Amino acid sequence: MKILVVGGGGREHALAWKLAGDSARPEIFCAPGNAGTVNVATNLPVSAEDVPALLDWARANRPELTVVGPEAPLCAGIADAFAGEGLPVFGPSRAGARIEGSKAFAKAIMQAANVPTAKARTFTDSAAALSHLRERGAPVVVKADGLAAGKGVFVCRELAEAEAAVKTVLDDRCFGEAGGSLLVEDFLDGEEASVMALTDGREIVMLASAQDHKRVHDCDQGPNTGGMGAYSPAPVVTADLWPVIRSLVFEPVLAELARRGIVYRGVLYAGLMIGAKGPMVLEFNCRFGDPETQAVLPRIEGDLLPALLACANGSGLTQDMLRWRRDACVCVVMAAGGYPGKYAKGDPITGLEAADSVGGATVFHAGTALAGGKVVTAGGRVLGVTALGSGMAQAVARAYEAVGLVKFSGAHFRKDIAHRAFARENKGGNA
Ligand code: AMP
Ligand code: GLY
Repeated sequence: MKILVVGGGGREHALAWKLAGDSARPEIFCAPGNAGTVNVATNLPVSAEDVPALLDWARANRPELTVVGPEAPLCAGIADAFAGEGLPVFGPSRAGARIEGSKAFAKAIMQAANVPTAKARTFTDSAAALSHLRERGAPVVVKADGLAAGKGVFVCRELAEAEAAVKTVLDDRCFGEAGGSLLVEDFLDGEEASVMALTDGREIVMLASAQDHKRVHDCDQGPNTGGMGAYSPAPVVTADLWPVIRSLVFEPVLAELARRGIVYRGVLYAGLMIGAKGPMVLEFNCRFGDPETQAVLPRIEGDLLPALLACANGSGLTQDMLRWRRDACVCVVMAAGGYPGKYAKGDPITGLEAADSVGGATVFHAGTALAGGKVVTAGGRVLGVTALGSGMAQAVARAYEAVGLVKFSGAHFRKDIAHRAFARENKGGNA
């Protein structure tokens, strides 16, 4: 069986790694992959965003499954294009991917489905947005409507920051067409968590919870990044919240999409703020989270492939398809010097094999490439050093032991991944 994984980051390495270990022993291809995916897959020199070239390859090679990692090809309609050729694809149609591609659309779905989320208004006119802001005051959150590579959200403590954000998005069009409209929404307080759910358009199977670490420095200081680490499970998602998240978030959102003629298949990622009023949705993604996936997939005991195939085929997904280990998992991202600002590429990386041989550890590559047979840096987030442990403390210790063995010029990483899990344990919370 041939499987095509679209993408070349840490999430895709984790997906390719998990699928390569499946009992059906499939042959994995990655487009474009990275220096890590070559150990479990064949890399194809095709960009994840080049839908026509991906389709050409798939037409010629007929993969039984294509798993799409990033949002860009999904928003561009890769699932529709593949389905049109009878090629099974894990990931929603272009219409379904709008749940991530347009924050105004996502908000409209949530409002129609009564999903708990921050109150918001959508604007296309900056004068109207500014006068609304001045009436409501700060704190407030301003969000560009479209895809803005994680940079389109402004959490504003002061009114002046929010006014500047409106100008940046609507007047200066710093995000291009993604900033043709924006949302002004209430600031929510609480602790964030990520919960993903698989769906074949009928059944919903929730994955283990996780928590991302978006800021570059320890103690959540410094600028936002694509994610500096993740761990699973996230104790903030207590057992009593599971049925609530299913019935107040996933079920109504998927039903509202279906009511609009959109049968959503693939994975739906809910970014939640868990505060005094219970879980509220901050955002939806139409794909697996990165780096949450690196911390969630190693916790799956046995095969993932049957569940992904059921989603792609639009039927047959059942709750018992995924079995979970009790172990905790931690992924520590090692980034290139300067990231999330300007950073160098092409620096040699050493110690990868030693890191991989630490008990419970797996090094997922993100921004890496092969140069003359050697692994070198090729992106801002270079590696996701991941480890399972019998509890969070052991997983953290193993992950950092492995991190300590990897070297490249300018490498930096957070030293406090999973700190909120420990804070909760220390307070006697539900871990
Ligand atoms: P988003 O891309 O919508 O998840 O936003 C990025 C980040 O901005 C989130 O992970 C939160 O940390 C923060 N954020 C977004 N919306 C809100 C909100 N309404 N209140 C507080 N923080 C928010
Ligand atoms: N970790 C956040 C995301 O994947 O968007």
